[in-house]
Formats: sequence, structure tokens, C-alpha cells
Amino acid sequence: MKIAIFDSGIGGVTVLHEALLRIPDAEYIFYADTDHVPYGTKTSEEIKGFVDDIVDSLVSLEADAIVIACNTATAVAAEHVRKKYSIPIIGMEPAVKPAVEVAKKDNGRVLVMATPVTIRENKLHSLLSKVDTDHMVDLLPMPGLVRFAENEIFDEAEVDEYIEEQLAVFDKSAYSEVVLGCTHFNYFKPAIRKAFADEIKLIDGNVGTIKHLADKLKLPYEYNPEKILTKFDYERIDYLVSGRPAGKEDLSKFGRLHERLNSIK
Ligand code: DGL
Repeated sequence: MKIAIFDSGIGGVTVLHEALLRIPDAEYIFYADTDHVPYGTKTSEEIKGFVDDIVDSLVSLEADAIVIACNTATAVAAEHVRKKYSIPIIGMEPAVKPAVEVAKKDNGRVLVMATPVTIRENKLHSLLSKVDTDHMVDLLPMPGLVRFAENEIFDEAEVDEYIEEQLAVFDKSAYSEVVLGCTHFNYFKPAIRKAFADEIKLIDGNVGTIKHLADKLKLPYEYNPEKILTKFDYERIDYLVSGRPAGKEDLSKFGRLHERLNSIK
């Protein structure tokens, strides 16, 4: 079974990482569209064009299923590419529904962090109209985190300053849940927790997406909370950067990202 996972950039590595932990026996292709990252500040037409080309090339590489490991690309183009192909194409959207359920118990509000495109697209607003009937959800675009992530700036003071600036108009104490509505944001869990003085639950869509993928492909789904990925696990993947085989530098970057994901929770 060949599973292809793609994103505008390195955010998708967080989804690949989860897939390797939970569906370890599949064959994987990982595609980062590094020539065009970030997607989150581009027009919908541009993003649709990128996604079209990527999905065409992954289908020609005989992928049995494709995961759009990008909330932005899903919001803009998932429906469009699903109409073209019959293989499963799994998208991602901000995990607002589970966040609202937990926030009701916690008597708090939900803050969804995502890209400007995800926040402006209809997909999120139609989801909110179904699940946010009590108006507990606020939205915050955080495009700067995508830029930091692509440059592997995760724990530096400039990240903390950026998060503080973006949060300045919000009453942080009102929130009990933050939804990480962009796969790049998973690398910043420590910084986001710090900004909320640790009193916050971070909710991302990665686990739900991989569970959905396993169900769809009828593959066994494993979970061992103790397990971390070794080089052997993540070096066997076919990594592509905007269609080209990843070079030495890209491969070592992907390795560093898997190691970061091993070390943060
Ligand atoms: N990782 C992507 C997402 O989940 C988008 C990042 C970007 O390219 O702006 O939305």
C-alpha cells in the first residue's frame, strides 16, 4: 500500500511522523512544495493550480491514497481534486469540533490558529456554523509561524515575541483550548503553551487524520505512546521537494524535524 502525503512545506512532516507511528508498515511518499511555500498568503487560484499539479504527479507515481497534510490546500482544493480521481484523498481541517466539546466541559473559549487563507475560506465558516452554535470560537491568523518553521526557528525569543504580539488583543485567560489549524504549527507546541502559561490544551488534527486514513484503507492502526521514530523509520521514505527527489540538505532537514517531533509533545 503506497500512501502519499503532501504539504506546502515542512508542516506535512508532522503528519508523516504520526502516520509512521501509527501505520508503520505502509510505503510512503512525502512531497513538500518548497518552491511555493507559503500557501497561506496566496490566492485560491494559485493554490488550486499547485495542488492540481501535485496530485497529478502523485497519482502518476501510483499512490493508493493521498493525504493533503495541509489545512490551507484542503480548504481550497480538496473537493476539486476528489472529483478528478477515484483514490481516497484525505484532507485536513482545523479540529474545531472536538475543541468545542472539550471547551464546554472546561467552561472556556476556543482559539483557532490557522493561515489567512484557511481563515478566509468558506470551508471553515461552514464548519463553524455547524459546531460553534454557542459562539465560543475565535480565529487568529498566524502566517509568521509558517515562515519561522520553514527556517527551523522554533525556540528563539523572536517566536515568543511574535506569538505575544498576535495574542495582544485577546484575553488569554478566556481560552481553555487552542486549535492548531495549520500543520506547521505543531512544531511550536512548547512556545504556544508558554504563551498561555501552560494552562491550555492544544488540539491538532494529525491523529484524527491518520485514524481516518487507516479506516479508509482498512489498515491496522497501532498506537504505543512510548514509541519514538528512529532513523531507520524515517529515512526509508521517498521524499520529494516540488517534484524533485530531495537532496542531501533536504534529507538532513527532514531528519532534524522528525527528531524535533520525537522530543516535543
Ligand atoms: N501547513 C499548511 C496548513 O496546514 C499551510 C502553511 C502555508 O503554506 O502557509 O495550512
